Order: sequence, then structure tokens, then C-alpha cells
Amino acid sequence: MGTPKTVLVTGASSGIGRALAVELARRGAHVMAAARREPELTKLCAEIAASGGKASFTVCDVADPKAAAELVRSTDRELGSLDMVISNAGVGGSTHSARLDVESVSRMIDINVRGAIAPLVAAIPIMLAQKHGQLVGVSSLAGRRALPTAAAYNATKAALSTFLETLRMDLDPAGIKVTDVQPGFVSTDMTAKNEFRMPFIWTPEKAATFVVDRLERAPRIIAFPLPLDLLTRFARHLPYAIHSWATRQLAGNR
Ligand SMILES: NC(=O)c1ccc[n+]([C@@H]2O[C@H](COP(=O)([O-])OP(=O)(O)OC[C@H]3O[C@@H](n4cnc5c(N)ncnc54)[C@H](OP(=O)(O)O)[C@@H]3O)[C@@H](O)[C@H]2O)c1
Repeated sequence: MGTPKTVLVTGASSGIGRALAVELARRGAHVMAAARREPELTKLCAEIAASGGKASFTVCDVADPKAAAELVRSTDRELGSLDMVISNAGVGGSTHSARLDVESVSRMIDINVRGAIAPLVAAIPIMLAQKHGQLVGVSSLAGRRALPTAAAYNATKAALSTFLETLRMDLDPAGIKVTDVQPGFVSTDMTAKNEFRMPFIWTPEKAATFVVDRLERAPRIIAFPLPLDLLTRFARHLPYAIHSWATRQLAGNR
């Protein structure tokens, strides 16, 4: 398949999305970088241009579905095609269920679910018309099974992974590839706030290289790092009582 020529990356102003944009541009793609913070996007595009790559940016809040759909259509117009959409924008955060409030949960759903899904859905007719394309969602290993104090985050990532799996079933016969990226811990602004231990944490650059290397083969899932991939696979089959006890011990019994 090779490196895509035209890619939209949401959440490209920092962390994993920024590193993916840099890596894809380094391999020759014209990248449209989207997020809310314009100064970070300007810096990213200047950095890519300085190293001989091609990048443009659009300021967009993906939690607004109309803006997210327009982002996809304008990217297709500006870049002349849309080979890949990476729906990466997302927010984290943990709250004990005793202190949950519906507004913050809804806000997380708006960004991590509606905001992840809207660009993918908007890209489908474009990719069907051009008879190729790859839809990529950045979900999380956290979507595989519930973890303490992470009801909202875990649920948003489980929703995104399930959504992507059906997209793959439906769209594969039409030549549209769908990949679910499931990272473990990556050192970004999102995880900088975490006070708990984050085993096997990767840099965004290491994560981006690992992901882009594999995207060319369009696998169903790209999960990393291997120890946490294996641990979370195993955890899916544990009885609830054991899983609950073990994860609460690891989380310091919160
Ligand atoms: N870091 C990890 O350990 C880890 C693990 C598993 C999965 N992930 C997932 O990886 C993705 C990237 O996270 P990260 O760790 O790289 O965190 P990050 O550095 O905080 O990056 C999050 C990105 O999302 C953008 N974003 C947030 N809300 C947005 C909105 N409403 N509209 C448009 N863009 C928005 C942010 O840009 P603006 O603020 O400029 O809008 C930023 O570019 C997320 O989906 C996250 O859930 C991360």
C-alpha cells in the first residue's frame, strides 16, 4: 500500500497526533493537522516545512459534528484527495465513580466518541467515491476492560473500538481499510497529570514510528506495548472478582 499521499490527523497539536503528523510527513505524505490550538499547529507546520515535508492546518473543535464534517470535506478539497483519516483527538481523566458528574462525562463522550466518529463518518462517502482509503481511530488498551476510576474514559474507548470493528466489516469489501490503534501509556500532556505508575511508557515518537510502520499493512488493530497488550488480552477473560481486586490493588485501592 505504501505511505498515503494525503492524511488528515485530528488532535495533531500535541502528543501522539503531533508525532504521527511529523512521521507521516517525513515519509512523504501531505498532512492536514487539526486541533483547537492554532499556535501549536502553526509551529508543527513550520517544523514539517523546515524539514522538507508538506503540512497544512485547520483549527477545529471535533466535538462540533458539523465542524468535524466540514474539516474532512475541506481537507479533501485542499489536498485533492483523502487517502487516510486518523481520528486521534481525545481527552483523558480519571474520577472515582462516587464523584462523577454528568456534564464532565458528556463532555468526554462529545470529544472521544462523537468527535472521533464524526470525521470518520464524513470521510466514508469521499473514500467510497475514490474507491480507496484508510480510516484510523486512536482508541486505547483501556477500552478492553473496565478499570477503577475510569468509567467515562474506558467507556468512550470501548465505544470507539466497537464502532471501528463494524466499519471494518462493512467497508472492507469496498476497498476501505479500517484500523484501530490501541496504545498503552505514552508520555504526553494527557498522561503528565497522572499520579499513578505507568508501566512500559513510550515516547510519542516511538509510538508514532511503531504505528506508521504498521499502518501500511492496514491491520485491524495496532496495539502496544506488547506486555500490556498481552496483559489486557488476558484480563478480558478473568472473572470479574479477580479483575476488580487486581486492578484496584494496582491503582492503590482507590
Ligand atoms: N497518552 C496515552 O497514554 C494514551 C494512551 C491510550 C490512548 N491515548 C489516546 O491518544 C489520543 C491522543 O492523546 P495524547 O496522549 O497524545 O494527548 P494530548 O497530548 O493531550 O493530545 C490530545 C490532542 O487532542 C486534541 N483535542 C482535544 N480535544 C479536542 C477537540 N475538542 N477538538 C479537536 N482537538 C482536540 C488536542 O488539541 P487541542 O487542545 O489543541 O484541541 C491534542 O492535540 C487520545 O485519543 C487518547 O485518548 C493516549
